[in-house]
Formats: sequence, structure tokens, C-alpha cells
Amino acid sequence: MTTYIYPGSFDPVTNGHLDIIRRASAMCSKLIVAIGHNRQKKPMFSLKERIALLNAAIENIECNQNIEIASFEGLLATYARKRGATVIVKGLRAMSDFEYEFQMALLNEHIDDSLETIFLITNIKYTYLSSSAVKELAENNASLRGLVPDNVIEELEQKYGRRLSNAADARAANH
Ligand code: PNS
Repeated sequence: MTTYIYPGSFDPVTNGHLDIIRRASAMCSKLIVAIGHNRQKKPMFSLKERIALLNAAIENIECNQNIEIASFEGLLATYARKRGATVIVKGLRAMSDFEYEFQMALLNEHIDDSLETIFLITNIKYTYLSSSAVKELAENNASLRGLVPDNVIEELEQKYGRRLSNAADARAANH
């Protein structure tokens, strides 16, 4: 049994994350999607909200029985070991991601050299997509068409207290 772990802030989950979750879950017996704390970011969504958004979003993934949504504090490598995960999965959007992810992979290997990090190349449709971009688009009432699942649109509408522009259009694009 191989357990993979896919860590991130998921603030909020995007269709790019879901694509990685779908592909990674097909490669292992169990995939733990683990929400961790990035010291460089102040999240918009609470941990509870991010867990709920991810749980609802994975409902739409076929064969999702081996996916678990979890959260951790402290070091990823320590949590991975505690959960019996031997492989860390990361999505790579562009070379600009590489330097940071390369450093993370080496740090995690330094902490626990039995941990492997593997990179999945992000689908070309999502190479420009990030949670930060989603929040900026929503804040400025731009369309989220094809970028996030419906439940995230609804949650962003709640946060901003208004309907988002082209929200109906975005929902249609998700179906
Ligand atoms: O989606 P993000 O913001 O790129 O995710 C980053 C995250 C949460 C995976 C990363 O910051 C992390 O692993 N945090 C836990 C602390 C840790 O283990 N740091 C790496 C070694 S110092």
C-alpha cells in the first residue's frame, strides 16, 4: 500500500489543485490532501472552511474513495511519517515554481531521507492559475469561469457579500 501526500494551503482549492488530486489519487493506494501552514501567507479562508471546500470539491472526482482531506501543524515531513506517507506530490506550473519547490523537496528530504517528492506537471489549462489569482479576480469582480469549483464561487460570494460577475457562466463551465 503506497500512501501519497499532497500538501498545500488550498486557500481556496482551484480546478488546478483538483486536477492534481485526481491524477495523483490514481497513482497510489491512498492520497492524503493535507492543508498546512505557509509562513509566507495569511489565509482568507479558515482551516475549517478550507477543509469543507476541499471535501465538497472532491465529491465530483470519480473514484475518490482513496482520497482523504486532512490538516497538519508543524513540519510536513513529520506529519507525512506519522501518517505513513512515503511520497510528497507537488504540482509544477512553470519554471518559476521550480526553485521554491526544489528547495522544499531538498529540505523535506533532509528532514526525512525516506521521503520522495514527485512533481506532476500542471495541465496547460491551469498553468496561470493560483489561489491568489482567484482571490484577486473575485475581489475585482472578474469572471472565475473554469477556474474553481461551484462551491468555491458560492463561498467567495458569501465572503464578498455579493454575486460575482459571470458566476452563472462560471458554474455552467464546470458542468
Ligand atoms: O500551497 P502552498 O502555500 O505552496 O503550500 C505550502 C506548504 C503548506 C505545503 C508548505 O509551506 C509546508 O510544507 N509547510 C509546512 C512546514 C514545512 O514543512 N516546511 C518545509 C520545511 S522547512
